[in-house]
Amino acid sequence: MSNLCIRTFGCQMNKRDSEIIHSMLAEKGYVLVDREEDADVILFNTCCVREHAERRVYSRMEQLATLKMRRPDVVLAIGGCMAQKEGRKILERLPHVDLVFGTGALYDLPALLERAVAGHGPVISVDGDVRPIRSQAEFGARETSVRAWVSIAEGCDNQCAYCVVPLVRGPERSKPAKLILDEVNRAVEQGHTEIFLLGQNVNSYGHDLVGAPDFPGLLQLVNDVSGVKRIRFTTSHPKDMSPRLVEALRDLPHVCEHLHLPLQSGSTRVLDLMNRRYTRDDYLRKIESLRSAVPGIGLTTDIIVGFPGETEEDFEQTRSALAEIRFDTAYIFKFSPRVDTRAETLPGHVPENEIVHRHRVLLEMQKEISREKVLESVGTRQEVLVEAQSAKEPEYLTGRTRNYKVVRVESDGVRVGDEAEVDITEARGWTLYGTLTAQAALRSDAVNG
Ligand code: 5AD
Ligand code: SF4
Repeated sequence: MSNLCIRTFGCQMNKRDSEIIHSMLAEKGYVLVDREEDADVILFNTCCVREHAERRVYSRMEQLATLKMRRPDVVLAIGGCMAQKEGRKILERLPHVDLVFGTGALYDLPALLERAVAGHGPVISVDGDVRPIRSQAEFGARETSVRAWVSIAEGCDNQCAYCVVPLVRGPERSKPAKLILDEVNRAVEQGHTEIFLLGQNVNSYGHDLVGAPDFPGLLQLVNDVSGVKRIRFTTSHPKDMSPRLVEALRDLPHVCEHLHLPLQSGSTRVLDLMNRRYTRDDYLRKIESLRSAVPGIGLTTDIIVGFPGETEEDFEQTRSALAEIRFDTAYIFKFSPRVDTRAETLPGHVPENEIVHRHRVLLEMQKEISREKVLESVGTRQEVLVEAQSAKEPEYLTGRTRNYKVVRVESDGVRVGDEAEVDITEARGWTLYGTLTAQAALRSDAVNG
């Protein structure tokens, strides 16, 4: 038996890949540990979407050089998107690393690791094809007991000018619905009641398969799986968001009222430079139709500031879009040039101090809006799916509303996995606090005897 420590960087796709890594290596006798010092194998599952993500991996792996010196038998592995993109170059900066495996080599990991553990390192697998689409139902190790991430497609066919993802994860390949439903059924059997569907662009699901449902059709199929309480999904691309998706959000009882819809910029001119293929007005209209069909829907977004050519006027358009739309949360990123993307060579570089300034302006404005949006829920009654004990305040359990707001409730009369009716009593920072309604408490008494 050996100990394995996994550190995951990046998006939910990577979180699911880390669960798959955990499952595959558990089969080989590895046991997951939290602390790097306790591990025989330390594996970083990496992201390359921005330079900052890569820098963190380099600096944290550099820090592990002293551990490797003390305990030369420890195996250090780097996998995922940055491994795919950087390849052998990683070993020039991190010569103490024993294994580098790209996103395409995920399923070869057990064999690659065996070679690295046997001392045949450094082992490198970064040149292979994109990974095949296959069932992932057997990979039952999950980060939480309530939520199950389920990948519905790999790769991406869009060519957003800033984005490196298509280069590392390949073209879009949808997973046949039967495989997805098998995995959903298996997850439900294991007690997971929230299904979180994942893809780089879930809205174009099925385009590449003959006779497959489209994404709203897939939502209907998952909605009908017995035992599923909640369905969420990410990421949606505004250009592919159809009226049928709005109807699915409105009509399917298990599909939660939350949408992550990256805007990226509020300026039509910049959106065009980014090759996003929608205008500011298209986006605003979509938000309007969502909000009128699904009142109270939670809306979150991604924004990039400092894209090449972004003028003061363009930035102002983004600022005013955020002020007008009032997202519940906006993730605001500074543009980071990525090698071999179209934006890398675009003219109109925005100076670093200006990018920092624009970033700060939006962060501060959004902080206020997010706080006000959280306050809007105080005094309302919400259905909260209880996920876990709160890490920060262990006397509380933590869960989320259907529109994705975090709520803490006292643990009396409620258990992880319950969908509880909660009266929201206050907000501290961005977290809501609530109490079980008298009705919910009664029901739970009856169940608990
Ligand atoms: N620079 C900054 N942000 C980026 N994103 C993707 N590529 C870049 C880049 N080169 C952001 C986008 C995307 C999110 C996952 O990361 O906003 O939606
Ligand atoms: Fe996820 Fe993209 Fe980062 Fe890969 S590069 S981990 S797909 S965000």
